[in-house]
Amino acid sequence: MKVFFGSLVVFLFLSCNSSEKVENKVVITDGTKTYDVYQPSEMSSLMKGMYAYNMQLKADIEAGKELTGEFPEEFLDIHSAVLSDTKLRNENFKHYSAKFIEAQRDIFSQDSLSSVEERYNNSINMCLSCHKTECTGPIPKIKKLLIK
Ligand code: HEC
Repeated sequence: MKVFFGSLVVFLFLSCNSSEKVENKVVITDGTKTYDVYQPSEMSSLMKGMYAYNMQLKADIEAGKELTGEFPEEFLDIHSAVLSDTKLRNENFKHYSAKFIEAQRDIFSQDSLSSVEERYNNSINMCLSCHKTECTGPIPKIKKLLIK
């Protein structure tokens, strides 16, 4: 019961909107018990990875560490990862995914005139711009990535 409750909470927080909560749920029955299993799409797994990565980046920037890493090329999967059944790779999505990749790459640029905080926040604002039209659920969570 405890396990089930845990996964349900994750589910409610991270889904784009209420209709998807139903669509992404797979019910598994083993004869005696029924389990509701959340099936993340390739895109949602990528998004979770991008979230975790940027959380670490924020911590490093706030701690004043010099960024030694490079732009993670895996993020380019945003152009091809399979979305949930309810989501489409429409023109809006394509527009913002290109903008986001550009902004995220810019964080690691050596010869930029703007500060790293500014460039980092720009890229998080691109997450938010896309989410405002494509997937509103995680917006409060993404806002926490912004450096104040
Ligand atoms: C080009 C549009 C776009 C950009 C840019 C974007 N997202 Fe998303 N995000 C989506 C869509 C669409 C989904 C839903 C994916 C699905 O259901 O297949 C999603 C899902 C998510 C989820 C929910 C994952 C889950 O648990 O199912 C989180 C969290 C998230 N994004 C965070 C981020 C963060 C952080 C960034 C920037 C670092 C970002 N997104 C950039 C469109 C975008």
